Amino acid sequence: MAEFLLEVDALEAGYGKKTVLQGVGLRVREGEVVAVLGHNGAGKSTTLKTILGLLPARAGQVRFAGKPWSNGDAVENVRNGMALVPQGRGVFPDLTVTENLMLGAYTQRDAAATAARLREVIELFPLLGERGAQRAGTLSGGEQQMVAVGMALMPRPRLMMMDEPSIGLAPVLVQRVLETARQINRRFGTAIILVEQNIKTALGVADRAYVMKSGRVVLEKPAAELLAAQSSWWELY
Ligand SMILES: Nc1ncnc2c1ncn2[C@@H]1O[C@H](COP(=O)(O)OP(=O)(O)O)[C@@H](O)[C@H]1O
Ligand SMILES: [Mg+2]
Repeated sequence: MAEFLLEVDALEAGYGKKTVLQGVGLRVREGEVVAVLGHNGAGKSTTLKTILGLLPARAGQVRFAGKPWSNGDAVENVRNGMALVPQGRGVFPDLTVTENLMLGAYTQRDAAATAARLREVIELFPLLGERGAQRAGTLSGGEQQMVAVGMALMPRPRLMMMDEPSIGLAPVLVQRVLETARQINRRFGTAIILVEQNIKTALGVADRAYVMKSGRVVLEKPAAELLAAQSSWWELY
């Protein structure tokens, strides 16, 4: 088995004439939880979107699960085991909870496997079963985040990227969402990239962390080390 599930090297991407990612490199091991931190505008969301294939890379390499990565083709990358819980959740408010979860399985062709996976996701989040027939837009913010995570889990990803999952949630729910990430990681062995503004909480659940600034990775350390010395590095970025 290769040492890394995901290897990103010298990744460049942007919007129109603007280059945002200026050579991003990062690694994720099988089953690892990696936090990506950095101020607004550092390029965290752009990094996740480019890895998934929602935005084409202009230069650089990505290797994932020993398979060829598809630059700019999110459907193919999801089929190969990547998932993204987008910033702002991305649930369909007018569809029911169950319909949203089934949409998360859009790349799956095997109906029986999808039904089994739906049961697994509901076992993890019983509330999604109880509220299956309810329109997602009528759920609370925390519950909608649960739907978004459930959707991402439907294709049994090997890597789940979460873009600020705790944004807009009450402090008590922030902790719970990040604990859920850990729980998914333990239960399914899913590797996780966690982009977060809640630095302490994110470092509390992550194994390792990267700090980004201006489209580059400026620091990489074990999460525990950053947590122990937070005041001495955060001001630098
Ligand atoms: N769709 C877009 N079109 C043009 N510029 C964008 C777009 N999305 C993000 N940007 C710009 O790219 C930079 C990085 O943004 P982003 O990756 O969202 O940062 P972060 O997630 O770290 O806050 C910012 O300067 C932002 O304004
Ligand atoms: Mg962002």
